[in-house]
Amino acid sequence: MKMRAAVLERFGEPLAVQEVELAEPRAGEVLVRLAACGVCHTDLYTASGADPSGYAPAVLGHEGAGVVEQVGDGVGSVAPGDHVVTLFSPQCRECLHCRDERTNLCLAIREEQNKGHLPDGTTRISRDGEEVRHFMGCSTFAEYTVMPEIALAKINPEAPFEHACLFACGLSTGLGAAINTAAVRPGSTCAVFGAGMVGLGAVAGCRLQGAERIICVDLSPERLELARGQGATDLLEGGEGAVERILEMTGGFGADYTFEATGSVAVMRQALEAARMGWGLCTVAGVAGKGETLDVVPRLLITGRRVAGSSFGGVKGRDQVPVLIDRYLADEIDVAPFLSHRIALDEVNRGFELMEAQDGIRSVIELS
Ligand SMILES: NC(=O)c1ccc[n+]([C@@H]2O[C@H](COP(=O)([O-])OP(=O)(O)OC[C@H]3O[C@@H](n4cnc5c(N)ncnc54)[C@H](O)[C@@H]3O)[C@@H](O)[C@H]2O)c1
Ligand SMILES: [Zn+2]
Ligand SMILES: [Zn+2]
Repeated sequence: MKMRAAVLERFGEPLAVQEVELAEPRAGEVLVRLAACGVCHTDLYTASGADPSGYAPAVLGHEGAGVVEQVGDGVGSVAPGDHVVTLFSPQCRECLHCRDERTNLCLAIREEQNKGHLPDGTTRISRDGEEVRHFMGCSTFAEYTVMPEIALAKINPEAPFEHACLFACGLSTGLGAAINTAAVRPGSTCAVFGAGMVGLGAVAGCRLQGAERIICVDLSPERLELARGQGATDLLEGGEGAVERILEMTGGFGADYTFEATGSVAVMRQALEAARMGWGLCTVAGVAGKGETLDVVPRLLITGRRVAGSSFGGVKGRDQVPVLIDRYLADEIDVAPFLSHRIALDEVNRGFELMEAQDGIRSVIELS
């Protein structure tokens, strides 16, 4: 079938929205009609050419939500008409990692996904016979996509797509960092560095876990106000003195749990230094630039602080994304403030510009 999609042709150039060919789903694959898709930093990072593992031509986008149209042979967990959220982090439920509760890093299709292929090593997207690659196994800047069954979370159909798609990446990452990776205990004091989609999700996750005090740190007063709406009790301007301020606010000890959601290694260091001796846990969610390293004074670790990384918030997508969406439908998570701009597929490059200008938290492409 023919469909419109936003193609990364050359790094550093705007995406080109155009007609491409999409083949039918093969065994284990699913055709999804996309309804909404968030525009994320990872899309821009790849489009800019900064990501050394990027490839082109490719259809970008990975924060999608839509409706199952058709399933390939052997697909049993979703059926036409089901509402789904796309998962760049799949869950096969069979591999060593999927069977272990300690991680969400499914091993089933990583290699081919990293090359822009579906699990059988080929693409379903093409243009005049030339293959066009799948980005992060998703390619959701498009009217339709074909994805592996194991990379789709079936969700409650009552969830509006424009909110559901935000659970495909940043929001679940932040929520999961607090709920899964840190497993914040009730009554705790938390400090969240960064109030973008990930940091605001972490603030909400700390609140859902019953944290008593949630300090949010950012450079932007507008974003800090959004953090208050998600449950932050204390707002703090980021920069040089942030660690000292957090120590002062916590009787000299620091927070029980800290979260980094900026991508800056200097802030990662601050997050560790703001964690309490004895048991303070610093969860790092930001993606640092290539080659950057985290500078840690080992004494901080010997005295009981720990650092944990978190990919997609430790969320096992097919099991947990539907649960998070049910919590949103039960009014436990306020998603509306994150949706700042609704744009058309043709305006995808404007979505990048809005993001670079830090205008709003997320632009969402409305597809059908
Ligand atoms: N681990 C994962 O699976 C995963 C998933 C999605 C995104 N990410 C990464 O998480 C990070 C955050 O993503 P986002 O979408 O929320 O980004 P964002 O750019 O919207 O938010 C980052 C925030 O950090 C703030 N900030 C910058 N410098 C600061 C400082 N010195 N002190 C305090 N705050 C500061 C900015 O003002 C901004 O509000 C990025 O690095 C992104 O690549 C990771
Ligand atoms: Zn993303
Ligand atoms: Zn697996």
